[in-house]
Amino acid sequence: MWVQFIPFLFALWAALVTANITTYPPPSIYGVSSVYELSVNGVPVPAVAYPGYDYAQLSMDEDQNTKFAVTIKNGTAIDSYSITPKSLDIKASVSGDTLSFSVTKAYYLILKVNGQKEFVIVADPNETDVPPSSGQGIYNVMDYQADNTGTSLTSGVQDALNAAGKASGGIVYVPKGIFLVGNIIIPSRTSLYLAGGSVLRFTGNPADYNQLYNKPGLGPGTWWIQTAINSTDCKIYGRGTIDANGYGYQQGKHVAQVIVPVGTKRFIADGPLIRESSFWTIVPTQSEDVQLLNLKILNRLDMVQNDGIDAVECKGVETRRVIAIANDDSFSAKTWPYDADDIFSAYPYSPLPQSNISFTDCVAWTHCYGFKVGQGVYQYQENIVFEDGTVYKGAVGIGIDHKYGDGVARNVTWRNIVIEGLGYTNLPGVSTWLAILVELDGKSVGPIENLLMEDIRIYDLGKTSAPIKGYNSSVLVTNTNLNNIYLNDDTTPTTNMSALKILHMHTLDTTLTATSSSALTG
Ligand SMILES: *[C@@H]1O[C@H](CO)[C@@H](O)[C@H](O)[C@H]1NC(C)=O
Ligand SMILES: *[C@@H]1O[C@H](CO)[C@@H](O)[C@H](O)[C@H]1NC(C)=O
Ligand SMILES: *[C@@H]1O[C@H](CO)[C@@H](O)[C@H](O)[C@H]1NC(C)=O
Ligand SMILES: *[C@@H]1O[C@H](CO)[C@@H](O)[C@H](O)[C@H]1NC(C)=O
Ligand SMILES: *[C@@H]1O[C@H](CO)[C@@H](O)[C@H](O)[C@H]1NC(C)=O
Ligand SMILES: *[C@@H]1O[C@H](CO)[C@@H](O)[C@H](O)[C@H]1NC(C)=O
Ligand SMILES: *[C@@H]1O[C@H](CO)[C@@H](O)[C@H](O)[C@H]1NC(C)=O
Ligand SMILES: *[C@@H]1O[C@H](CO)[C@@H](O)[C@H](O)[C@H]1NC(C)=O
Repeated sequence: MWVQFIPFLFALWAALVTANITTYPPPSIYGVSSVYELSVNGVPVPAVAYPGYDYAQLSMDEDQNTKFAVTIKNGTAIDSYSITPKSLDIKASVSGDTLSFSVTKAYYLILKVNGQKEFVIVADPNETDVPPSSGQGIYNVMDYQADNTGTSLTSGVQDALNAAGKASGGIVYVPKGIFLVGNIIIPSRTSLYLAGGSVLRFTGNPADYNQLYNKPGLGPGTWWIQTAINSTDCKIYGRGTIDANGYGYQQGKHVAQVIVPVGTKRFIADGPLIRESSFWTIVPTQSEDVQLLNLKILNRLDMVQNDGIDAVECKGVETRRVIAIANDDSFSAKTWPYDADDIFSAYPYSPLPQSNISFTDCVAWTHCYGFKVGQGVYQYQENIVFEDGTVYKGAVGIGIDHKYGDGVARNVTWRNIVIEGLGYTNLPGVSTWLAILVELDGKSVGPIENLLMEDIRIYDLGKTSAPIKGYNSSVLVTNTNLNNIYLNDDTTPTTNMSALKILHMHTLDTTLTATSSSALTG
């Protein structure tokens, strides 16, 4: 009985688009949170049940007070809570079973209430670039006989993309509904718009996908949604959901990278919510000028190898305002060699170096690294910046794991990062806010040069020491500058290496300085 009730409830929520917020009706395939209820400006916002944490998505007008009220469903009084990012310093009040707070900007928040599973609330500013659902240059998938009921594999989405591609580009419009799709290839100058309430869903049946490569240990893999190779100006946007439906797929020894801009220029992904990836989720590969904006990567913590974003061999990837929840690394940058028996066999070009990669205003929750370079550094990687970020929880907050390859990793900056919690251990015994490592696992080792960690606030140092470690006296970590590193809520930075548990060896020029005596703000 209850199960039949769910679609009705979501339908009711869908109708309520008012009071300067917009909610999106999740389809009935998703359960309703049994722990949390959310209302925003008095309007109910659907809370979706998910393994490990629950989540809710909405859009809101900014620059005015928007009031959030989170209620524990079974009426238990709230006796403890936290709101991530802590750096926002959101003041909340509790009344019985309800936690209330107001904000004037849209944020991606992680709430922990009463020791219950976390509640992830992803709010965006209201959409400004909504295309019409039909008209000149618009290719509505319903005009290509797409099945929007999620009952059968549909080619309508790809047919619409092909039609747009043939016309030298256009906007493919995906309305509310569930679309089970095979491999999707976006042609040049074509945008895939996913309206709020739309779900592109992976079927989970290997026969529906091209097996493009092998992932050692996991099985054959595909790129689920990719750009055409040698394309330009492809885009995915809107507030729909991209459901990689990956749990069973990974258990069945298959994997799929979810969004793969590959051999492309000026790709943009802006806005969708992406869930349950069976492998690396968004993987800009051998591409230039990529922008990844306002993305909500909600993977499961009880899977493996499901990194949030991995920039691989690109020139120019800007990631901004993204939350990535994953068992494996939330945000990372890698370069790899050609290997016919590995994922790289599908790459369009010979191995390339990587440069100009930035991750700004991002939230990480992972059992591995929050903000990382590596493990592959086969070709050089340079000018990589992680800025204004938060690690809610991880095994390692920030770092470089130079484990494979003899390339140099150089000019890497982490600035204004808050590490709220650690405690997971991805590798036996590793739990630390910082790890800079040159390791040998394969044929070769390479150096690390010119690192800056600045304005870092650490609430959890982790259980083990923070290594800054070259390989030997000729493969070093050179020129590491730590500046303004704060512990807990201290207003003055520390200059005590042991207080930060830093252990360094095979390094040259490692400094810890304090140039600011004022408190860090947001
Ligand atoms: C909605 O926003 C407008 C300004 O953007 C404001 O005048 C109005 O009072 C708001 N309405 C509600 C219900 O918050
Ligand atoms: C928010 O955007 C949606 C979609 O464009 C629009 O229908 C709605 O009116 C907007 N809401 C506000 C309060 O501006
Ligand atoms: C509410 O849920 C919590 C956690 O599941 C449980 O410990 C508590 O007993 C429940 N309270 C009631 C009144 O059902
Ligand atoms: C991409 O362009 C390169 C260089 O022009 C060409 O060699 C290659 O065949 C192209 N690949 C595809 C898939 O079009
Ligand atoms: C770095 O990448 C960004 C985003 O892709 C691009 O806009 C910018 O021009 C690039 N800068 C350099 C110096 O290459
Ligand atoms: C890397 O940083 C060093 C030292 O800060 C600087 O001299 C060099 O120009 C930088 N290299 C690149 C490629 O930006
Ligand atoms: C450091 O290790 C590398 C890789 O094994 C080796 O080639 C090099 O000779 C070593 N240097 C020293 C001083 O041992
Ligand atoms: C540095 O930190 C260590 C470990 O917390 C502590 O034992 C030591 O007293 C500190 N040294 C100074 C000079 O504060």
